[in-house]
Amino acid sequence: MGYQTPARRRNNRLARAGRGADPVVEAAATVLSESTDPAVDPIYRSALNRDVPPASDGEFSPIPIGPLRVWPPVVLAPMAGVTNYPFRALCRRFGAALFVSEMITARPLCEGNAKTLKLADFGEDETPRSLQLYGVDPHYVGEAVRRLVGEGRVDHIDMNFGCPVRKVTRRGGGAAIPLKPRLLANIVRAAVAGAGRVPVTIKFRIGVDDTLVTFEDAGRIGEAEGCAAVALHARTAAQLYDGLARWEAIARLKALVRSIPVLGNGDIWEAEDALRMMRQTGCDGVVVGRGCLGRPWLFRDLADVFAGRAPIDPPTLGEVIEIMKEHLERLCAWMGEHAGVRMFRKHATWYTKGFRGSASLRERVMTSGTKAEVLACLAGLDGSERFPPSAMRVPRGKTAGTQSVALPDGFLDDRDDATPPGIEAEDLGDGG
Ligand SMILES: Cc1cc2nc3c(=O)[nH]c(=O)nc-3n(C[C@H](O)[C@H](O)[C@H](O)COP(=O)(O)O)c2cc1C
Repeated sequence: MGYQTPARRRNNRLARAGRGADPVVEAAATVLSESTDPAVDPIYRSALNRDVPPASDGEFSPIPIGPLRVWPPVVLAPMAGVTNYPFRALCRRFGAALFVSEMITARPLCEGNAKTLKLADFGEDETPRSLQLYGVDPHYVGEAVRRLVGEGRVDHIDMNFGCPVRKVTRRGGGAAIPLKPRLLANIVRAAVAGAGRVPVTIKFRIGVDDTLVTFEDAGRIGEAEGCAAVALHARTAAQLYDGLARWEAIARLKALVRSIPVLGNGDIWEAEDALRMMRQTGCDGVVVGRGCLGRPWLFRDLADVFAGRAPIDPPTLGEVIEIMKEHLERLCAWMGEHAGVRMFRKHATWYTKGFRGSASLRERVMTSGTKAEVLACLAGLDGSERFPPSAMRVPRGKTAGTQSVALPDGFLDDRDDATPPGIEAEDLGDGG
């Protein structure tokens, strides 16, 4: 078959997945190989994913999540180590959405662990305050929720049932929980009961792998136990973040869960993907994960397309650098300079992916220990460089392949068993 460009490979995968080739990616490949002249505006624009008509009047509605009305119908996905207050504040500056915190673990929260409480920080001006909770034991989940709600700390709680990390699934936690429907129901019930009027949503994957598919059960349980919405990351835990998200599962869930909103998650890299997902699946809103890493203006583009406008062109490198500086400032103000600079390093990698000379820049930022050193790295760059059209879709964040999911011995012998896994099943350090 000979060498294939990444765009061509992706289109072949799209064709295999029955979604048809993506003319936008093809156009991007053409521009990159034949012309990168930023002066050629029509070509530049055609290389962006701009072939999807923006929303028409009344086509979409705000997502009702309990008393909240989310418009545009967009949710920032909870991402451990990423969606802290500074990142949420930065994204919010570009456009409205429901911005979910990084994942907070129930038991340390109940025990008043200082680090956990810091992660559960919201800005004084932040509203609604949306927090993702992870827990494996109804008792601690209920207590954590009562504490959060009782102290008036949150306006929305999302629960994570999709974590694919081996060290928790092999203990029966994370994405393994939906394999035990009674356990899942007990955890959700405890959260909903503890939350009172604060809406609870749940987020889960298609299943553990293609032989252990649980999303339909999870959706039914969410609906029956009083959740305000359900969100499906349309991959299995075995898939991790690999391959195309299977939007057809979102459509199936939407057909099944009729009384509460169904949110779709997976592969919203550009604003037009959100329109496509909603039109193809009928889902009520989208959850945006890796697409906004290093591209927080995606929320501006989303606001535009849902308001019926075409998004404006992406920022130049100079404009991206200004956003990077703001992000660095916000992180350092929130967590101190040392930790802020360390946290910023991965964001720097994501911001600069696709730009010329980004590899050497990344190397220098990775060894910077102070704000001044980071700023010095950014100072010498050519700010006029245009954003490479294909760079919105460059994989960022988690990209490593697939896995075979580890479960405890005999875990599948009694799927009706509702015994909570031990505390180790909450011990992640990282999300999923
Ligand atoms: C760095 C990173 C951390 C994540 N942490 C969490 C988490 O704590 N809780 C969760 O439910 N999902 C987590 N996820 C999964 C995302 O919320 C989302 O479901 C996934 O990235 C798929 O969406 P995408 O294709 O738009 O990226 C994480 C993803 C990434 C990339």
